[in-house]
Amino acid sequence: AVPLHTKNTVAQDMLTHLFTKPTLNSAEDFPSVPQPEIKAALDRLASRSMVEYVTIDSEQATLTPEAEAIVQEGSHEFKVWSAVKQAGRIAIKDLPNFVGADSARVGSGNAFKNKWIKKDGDSLVLVAEEVKDVTRDRLREIQDTKTLSDAKLLNDYKKRKLVTFSKVISYTINKGPKYAIEMPVEVTDLTVEMIASGEWEKANFKGYNFAALGAPQNAGSLHPLNKVRTEFRTLFFNLGFTEMPTGHFVDSAFWNFEALYVPQQHPARDAQDTFFISYPPKSDKPRADPYTDNTLDDIEAGARRLYAANEKRKRVPRDYEAYWENIKAVHENGGDFGSIGYRYSWSEDEALRLVLRTHTTAVSTAVLHRLAEDPRPARYFSIDRVFRNETVDATHLAEFHQVEGVIADFGLTLGGLMRFLEDFFSKMGIDGLRFKPAYNPYTEPSMEIFGYHTGLGKWVEIGNSGMFRPEMLEPMGLPRDMRVYGFGLSLERPTMIKYGVSNIRELLGHKVDLGFIQSNPAVRLDKN
Ligand code: PHE
Repeated sequence: AVPLHTKNTVAQDMLTHLFTKPTLNSAEDFPSVPQPEIKAALDRLASRSMVEYVTIDSEQATLTPEAEAIVQEGSHEFKVWSAVKQAGRIAIKDLPNFVGADSARVGSGNAFKNKWIKKDGDSLVLVAEEVKDVTRDRLREIQDTKTLSDAKLLNDYKKRKLVTFSKVISYTINKGPKYAIEMPVEVTDLTVEMIASGEWEKANFKGYNFAALGAPQNAGSLHPLNKVRTEFRTLFFNLGFTEMPTGHFVDSAFWNFEALYVPQQHPARDAQDTFFISYPPKSDKPRADPYTDNTLDDIEAGARRLYAANEKRKRVPRDYEAYWENIKAVHENGGDFGSIGYRYSWSEDEALRLVLRTHTTAVSTAVLHRLAEDPRPARYFSIDRVFRNETVDATHLAEFHQVEGVIADFGLTLGGLMRFLEDFFSKMGIDGLRFKPAYNPYTEPSMEIFGYHTGLGKWVEIGNSGMFRPEMLEPMGLPRDMRVYGFGLSLERPTMIKYGVSNIRELLGHKVDLGFIQSNPAVRLDKN
């Protein structure tokens, strides 16, 4: 055997060795070199056709400490026999004192069976003058050769916990067609000097390895929800939508419910669904939000220029006091907005409660209210987080993301909304929608949107939609003939379908496997 090798010389040692010995066996010739290093050296040599090799998978038997002791001191039965032979006669109860408890227990039975000793009253006496300790010989054979020709016996030893098996990979190595006793120097770079001297003509260039994988990059990665969100944003931008500012998770009940014509006794407001904020105890009355106002003007600037290039448009600033009174009136008796309202006494305190927004429609409402400054066709979208106090299970979390779109224009019809949704979802690869009448306090008519999921083989609800009610739009000051479509869906559902995740907790929250986040590929909404 060749002595311990350092990494770089294993390949060279193989070449040297093959010069004198035509066939090598890695287990015999390189017993102390770890298998991966042997494999690396072989692949290096084989790729240059300097060696050829065959892989041999085999099982190797190794002695347990108990078996090693038997090889050293003899088998239990041999120890019992020796003790009896030496003493001439041993009282059975004294045997452990001679050979130890273990050997006494295991050894005497075998020594009887082998007819080496026998019982004489309460004592043991000798039968055979000479014996052959077969067990010890066999175990020694295993120790030397790592196997045994008698497979049944070998298995027997395994059952008696004398040997254990492990898989070993070894190689039979032969010279290849380009064998040489030394590794040829391989040139990796072409230098100016080599060109000038003409040395390049004779140089042995190292071949390119086109199959080599790139080194894994320790880079940041987008969460799958963010990847799908990016796809949705692109889709909305391509359809001429403007993104709404959704940066605040806490809102007043006024924007989340009242302004949407959700009655104050609506079951969805119940503590079961809505997270109420206890401090501060109350929000301010609705007022212009400097952050939101600026952002909307900024992001709309481009569209505004296009749409109203030659028009000096008149903007009516929002009167938040009047809007507050309008909302109160429309709930209580319908006000001037063509309805009889809900006919209950509206509580201001209820409207000023703070909530974690239960839908992004709270933001759409504020944005539509701003649109009434200068009513014009507009398209808005948002993709952000919402909160509902639901029991957490495989498909529900207490917080999730909503994708929401709003389209305002004159002369819109329900058929137009259906057509828009069909176009929108077909861009995500979902065709043949079905619509089911539904109820939202703020839309009439309302429709649940169903799409056929080929993977699940059934119709699944993919969204909710409708045309906003006049009770919601007119108190804002939007013109009577302006119609507004709205629709919403969760970001999680299409993401789970795209990435084949069946438990939402694998996607969001503390149970997420960061390896999954890092390794999952980008998706295209329009490609299945
Ligand atoms: N707010 C609705 C939801 O949370 C979605 C929706 C938005 C419905 C706009 C109609 C109009 O499910």
